[in-house]
Amino acid sequence: LQHLLTLDGLPREIVTTILDTATPFAAVAEREVKKLPLMRGKSVFNLFFENSTRTRTTFEIAAKRLSADVVNLNINTSSAAKGESLLDTVDNLCAMHADMFVVRHAASGAPMLIAQHLQHTGRDDVRVINAGDGRHAHPTQGLLDMYTIRHFKHDFTNLTVAIVGDVLHSRVARSQIAALTTLGVPEVRVIGPRTLLPTEVEKLGVRVFHDMSEGLKGVDVVMMLRLQNERMNGALLPTPQEYYKIWGLTADKLTLAKPDAIVMHPGPMNRGVEIDSAVADGTQAVILPQVTFGIAVRMAVMSMLGSH
Ligand code: CP
Repeated sequence: LQHLLTLDGLPREIVTTILDTATPFAAVAEREVKKLPLMRGKSVFNLFFENSTRTRTTFEIAAKRLSADVVNLNINTSSAAKGESLLDTVDNLCAMHADMFVVRHAASGAPMLIAQHLQHTGRDDVRVINAGDGRHAHPTQGLLDMYTIRHFKHDFTNLTVAIVGDVLHSRVARSQIAALTTLGVPEVRVIGPRTLLPTEVEKLGVRVFHDMSEGLKGVDVVMMLRLQNERMNGALLPTPQEYYKIWGLTADKLTLAKPDAIVMHPGPMNRGVEIDSAVADGTQAVILPQVTFGIAVRMAVMSMLGSH
């Protein structure tokens, strides 16, 4: 594995190896073990051209637990604001001896563009991790979600998993679907209004439901998504109240799932829009464990790419 740009097409063995590698790192993530020297002397540059709370911070923590040096480029105060191109920015950071770029960008394909540029300019030793690009992919989110499911449900091959909400604009959903199907989940459902599901979404290997009551029946895992207004380009939106009434996950609707179903959300949550507080803070929610597991999973990915 040279870069991590997407989970599409990533073999099951590699996905499983990442999850297995993350397991012992959980002790480091939980501060039971202080630091590991696996990336000592390496420089990791966090390039977040879009906002982030969880991903940026957990990448920073993960890199520091692996003893790497971390630079968080503040895009708003960087020379990108003066018109410097993405690839010129990368070239300049390479001149500062970057070993790894963690990239979030509004444009689908931006991390791939950087990876190709590094290859064309002979810097094959510099790694790129996609931290979320446009609607395309958010591979480490998909991986930490799989780690969470494995932690609570142990086996993927007997599960029914539902992904609910704005799949159309969601890079998270694409990475989740890729990972769930790769790991052999027999039934992956997507539930949402036609306007918020990609056309021909069933070609991704999922069952499609336009009714919450039908879609949630008997599921083991409910993965909620928020309305990604920032990617809707001014389209006519349902009001938050309208959306909540039909698609919001309430305690009542959750009773349709299995009694031991877990509820996940990648964050940030919009309470009272896609999820009710009673569910978000309820006993079935594993939303904060997802965040904690993100540290170990990102440590696994970074160490597998970057401790060469
Ligand atoms: N899940 C996720 O990507 O959260 P952030 O936008 O806070 O990084």
